[in-house]
Amino acid sequence: MAQNEDVFKKIVSHCKEYGFVFPSSEIYDGLGAVYDYGQNGVELKNNIKRYWWEAMTLLHENIVGIDSAVFMHPTIWKASGHVDAFNDPLIDNRDSKKRYRADVLIEEQLAKYEEKMSKEVTKAAKRFGDSFDEAMFRQTNPRVLENQRKWDELHARYEKAMNDNNLDELKQIILDYEIVDPISGTRNWTDVRQFNLMFKTQMGSSSDNTMDVYLRPETAQGIFVNFLNVQKTGRMRLPFGIAQIGKAFRNEIVARQFVFRMREFEQMEMQFFVRPGEELKWFETWKQNRLRWHKALGLGDEKYRFHDHEKLAHYANAATDIEFQMPFGFKEVEGIHSRTNFDLSQHEKFSGKKIQYFDPELNESYTPYVIETSIGVDRMFLSVMCSSYEEQKLEGGDTRVVLHLPKALAPVKCAILPLVRKDGMPEKAREIMDMLKFDFACRYDEKDSVGKRYRRMDAIGTPYCITIDGQTVEDNTVTLRDRDTMEQQRVAISDLPSIIGEQCSLNNLLKSMHKND
Ligand code: GAP
Repeated sequence: MAQNEDVFKKIVSHCKEYGFVFPSSEIYDGLGAVYDYGQNGVELKNNIKRYWWEAMTLLHENIVGIDSAVFMHPTIWKASGHVDAFNDPLIDNRDSKKRYRADVLIEEQLAKYEEKMSKEVTKAAKRFGDSFDEAMFRQTNPRVLENQRKWDELHARYEKAMNDNNLDELKQIILDYEIVDPISGTRNWTDVRQFNLMFKTQMGSSSDNTMDVYLRPETAQGIFVNFLNVQKTGRMRLPFGIAQIGKAFRNEIVARQFVFRMREFEQMEMQFFVRPGEELKWFETWKQNRLRWHKALGLGDEKYRFHDHEKLAHYANAATDIEFQMPFGFKEVEGIHSRTNFDLSQHEKFSGKKIQYFDPELNESYTPYVIETSIGVDRMFLSVMCSSYEEQKLEGGDTRVVLHLPKALAPVKCAILPLVRKDGMPEKAREIMDMLKFDFACRYDEKDSVGKRYRRMDAIGTPYCITIDGQTVEDNTVTLRDRDTMEQQRVAISDLPSIIGEQCSLNNLLKSMHKND
């Protein structure tokens, strides 16, 4: 399926053509890295969110949800560190007038060395066949060794510069490695500067009572500042979690790859509060739980990997990303962090309010530690789209574009198609629609040939097409066409709810992920 950047471009066009994602403000020529979800996109996105929400709040007795406001007291962002440290190092090219993240330019240079090494390995693997020993080859091949040496040298300098927050050194690395602007091809770079990613606006109506506020760059802080509210009103006992889905905003410098990096996006975050000292055990538990959630969708187990962080934020004692194989490489979709008691302690310090938990078993009060799972809805949407998209060659030379979406997530579960617009077929089709519409998202379509209607449904990933023909009117049976196999079977109308329900139910998906819990 989706393998490379050409396919990625097709997926982006497909999203627009079939009502999944539109560029924001398109009739005004768009707005950078902001997108709108269309009639099918919103359904797919809502189903992803429901899958996450129910996996968190139904499958765990000790996880509850909240919905906190986007605007919060500005001191929250001082306490969380976002005002002082939520920065990206940016650099401008004077010729193209384009702005880049300095760290991304250097990481792309590292990726070039990695690519060269992989190419050598792939070539040799082909040449030597079964007898190929990759480890030995990497240790001895001069070209691989030379690129590895360059990679190690650059990586060491880069890591030190980032750790020391040394912006001059970042610029020097870009100059020393002769990194050019991909647009102008020149090395006419400005100095590197820090750029805060938070959007700022004013709250209040008159000049003497306005206050600067931020659009939240993550939903997590809304959970931390409500820790005591939820713990007390819900009489929650540790360990317990608070889940939230909501919009977040970041003024990304390099916004690209479609909905992968947006300026307005949505997060699904869960903070799990635990006893100090137990956090690493819970970190492992949540790593495995979250991977199971992803894998239960059946997008392909091999498409996921953990990327453990070598460099930890000063408040974290473990962190990993779940990466997904996008057409443009393995990319972070979800972060899992052991954040110690940093956030709650900071809010205690900045608000002056005691934020502690009294543990009745230990008979003592303490600041809980936190494991955070944080996933981007839009990145999840993209991973589902990319792994579902297929241009399929059919027998007889025909082709079709089909989205093999996980059935429980599909925007439309079944299409109801009278073969022709006469002989009682539309009326019968409406009856079936009226029976199914309370349980399933159905779409009625009577325009064009049935073949064209099948293609339209394949393109939006509808798992089932129900065709009402002459025989239906006589014996109450229909043909049921499967999106993936295109096979059709004749079934009784009365069996439709159970067949579609069994295959498309979110409950079954939740059960399959829960089996090994
Ligand atoms: N509270 C922790 C936090 O916000 P993060 O790694 O910055 O951590 C978590 O973000 C997730 O949010 C990412 O794994 C990604 O899926 C999503 N995300 C972050 N920035 C994004 C952006 N600009 N566009 C789309 N999704 C984004």
